[in-house]
Amino acid sequence: MNTKTKIAGIELDSCILNASGPKDATMEELEAIANSASAAIMMKSCTIEPREGNEEPRLYVFPEGCFQSMGLPNLGYKKYIGFAPQLKKFKKPIIASLAGFSKDDYVTMVEAFQRSEVDLIEVNLSCPNVEGKPIVGYDFEQAEKLLKSFVGLGEKPVGLKLPAYYDMNHFQQMAKLVLKYNISFLTCINTITSLIINPETEATVIKPRKGIGGVSGTFIKPFGLSNVRIFYELLENKVSIMGVGGISTGTDAFEYLLAGADAVQIATTFEKEGPGCFERINNEMKEILKRKGYNSIESAKGKLKYL
Ligand code: DHB
Repeated sequence: MNTKTKIAGIELDSCILNASGPKDATMEELEAIANSASAAIMMKSCTIEPREGNEEPRLYVFPEGCFQSMGLPNLGYKKYIGFAPQLKKFKKPIIASLAGFSKDDYVTMVEAFQRSEVDLIEVNLSCPNVEGKPIVGYDFEQAEKLLKSFVGLGEKPVGLKLPAYYDMNHFQQMAKLVLKYNISFLTCINTITSLIINPETEATVIKPRKGIGGVSGTFIKPFGLSNVRIFYELLENKVSIMGVGGISTGTDAFEYLLAGADAVQIATTFEKEGPGCFERINNEMKEILKRKGYNSIESAKGKLKYL
């Protein structure tokens, strides 16, 4: 069985790819992704200037997931534009991830990536880890101003990486903007802002931002699933959706397909297991699809049953 899919008209050989975040900031890391079974090469969220990121310790790995406040360590957007032609030889879609600090930053980067060799542009509206950088996805007025400024700057599909929403009114407001500004795909969800405490030391486990960071891993899956499902219903199949959050097995990926995802992204499991995870999860998912009589991704997509 093949697990081909399409995101905003761009064909992917399977529906499983890396998420922006872990191990995707340097050329060496991107080549490792290119050489893996990841269906695309997703890059680290970039900023106008290179950044070292936040103070260490900034990443805490625990059995159920990861907790981090990396603070956008990246090489600056020009480096990623330069990487794209070198990554072309791997014959997989290349996806840029953009994290601006202002409207001008987003316009500069969207314009530049529109003229680059990447295939898709994911605009990150949900980075929680930089002091003084609000999560734009939670401010619908601000989000609309941003979208207005960068849509229509080129032909490449532009999508949004969104934070988790919990309130139906928020889903509706975002869905309205997505349709109004012809956003081509959504990636749901980013990490969830939280706090982890070490009871022995009575201290935070990471240093930046008084220990507040973004949590990922198995227990954020239900939030990811609800966000994919609600947007799938609100957007009536007009916008591709990539699901991300708590996927470590083929079963997790299958659940995201049922919820309405066209593809799924893997972050925490990639961080912990390395590039072999893409093939393993894809094989596990294929087994489940076969056992259940689905012969493609499309045939399982959105097929969640209600009681
Ligand atoms: C970082 C974390 C995020 O969740 C994100 O979307 C972008 C960047 C970070 O801390 O580097």
